[in-house]
Amino acid sequence: MIEGIEHIGIAVRSIDEARVFYEALGLKVEAVEEVPHEGVRVALIPCGAARIELLEPTSDESPVGRFLAKRGPGLHHLCLATDDVKADDAALRKAGLRILRPEPTKGASGCWVQFVHPESTGGVLLELSQQSADKSD
Ligand code: CO
Repeated sequence: MIEGIEHIGIAVRSIDEARVFYEALGLKVEAVEEVPHEGVRVALIPCGAARIELLEPTSDESPVGRFLAKRGPGLHHLCLATDDVKADDAALRKAGLRILRPEPTKGASGCWVQFVHPESTGGVLLELSQQSADKSD
């Protein structure tokens, strides 16, 4: 079941440069973490019930690195919170949608995530994210 907007992902060249704007709005960077298997550094900025996720590539070959090379900085993906990403993954496959990964993987904050290709969503890369019961695994 979809529970709401978890975060909005924004591709940036530099978290250190991009965060200045959000901090000028009075928002605070909660955490900066590296997700090595995604080739990305992530800064999470709480904003009401949702968060803004700044994505800085650590390599030009990473998905966010390629996005930046092609389109420049800007809106990268919308993430919806779900209570069962495996069930959503199965249901969306059954509906014939283009799912990006063979199965859900671990993303930032230890969440289980899956992505739906913009082709299947009307142009928006969609992330589905389920909070992990155990943050350490
Ligand atoms: Co995200």
